[in-house]
Amino acid sequence: MPNLILMGPPGAGKGTQCQKLIDRYKIPQVSTGDILRSAVRDKTVLGLEAKAYMDKGALVPDELVVKIVVERLKDKDCSSGFILDGFPRTIKQAEALENTLKQMDKKIGLCLSIDVPNKEVIKRLSGRRVCRQCGQGYHVEFSPASNANKCDKCGGELYQRDDDKEETIKARLKVYDEQTSPVKEFYKAKGLLKSIDGVGRMENITENIINAIEGK
Ligand code: AP5
Ligand code: ZN
Repeated sequence: MPNLILMGPPGAGKGTQCQKLIDRYKIPQVSTGDILRSAVRDKTVLGLEAKAYMDKGALVPDELVVKIVVERLKDKDCSSGFILDGFPRTIKQAEALENTLKQMDKKIGLCLSIDVPNKEVIKRLSGRRVCRQCGQGYHVEFSPASNANKCDKCGGELYQRDDDKEETIKARLKVYDEQTSPVKEFYKAKGLLKSIDGVGRMENITENIINAIEGK
């Protein structure tokens, strides 16, 4: 199983698809967005610093994010593979990741880019709901929970992310185009990039991702 990177604009379905891959391959998801949101919730030093950037839809500084990932990749559960979700998001992060993995005698096997047009992103993120307890994602129209305010999996309360307001979504899209798109070229130049059409039924997208991973 190659160590994977899942890229794509906000709302591309990275989190949604990652869940399917975790179930299938039994390797952990390393989501910098989830780690940062949990730090914000716990009001840690990192969380307090990160919140101002996240609320604006801006990127949290590279040094902070790189430190989080370097520490997380040392955990035992990452030893037989991992899926990076939402990292790296800048060329600096990509270079730092490469150095870290080299020191650990590891490498990235595949970078999957889930591509979705901006108009679809806005529809998806404005209707997204997330479980406060287990993190399961829903959409009020495209994948609703049976009970509007409760998680089907664990009964937790569903909430809307602070950065899922239209103005913040637009800022996040701009940041993606300017700062994160070049990361795709970084992996393309290494022959590690595969692009996946992220529009369509979630199950079909999962199938295309699995085929890309398993080289069919
Ligand atoms: P992060 O949490 O990484 O957010 P993001 O990249 O903007 O991605 P999202 O979580 O919004 O979307 P997703 O692709 O996971 O989509 P999902 O599956 O939920 O980052 C948040 C912030 O943290 C950043 O803005 C930044 O400030 C900071 N940060 C994080 N990492 C950083 C880094 N490396 N460096 C610096 N700062 C960093 O799907 C979205 C919705 O669509 C859901 O409702 C879902 O049900 C629905 N949906 C999914 N697939 C489909 C489909 N095929 N059809 C219809 N609906 C669908
Ligand atoms: Zn839940």
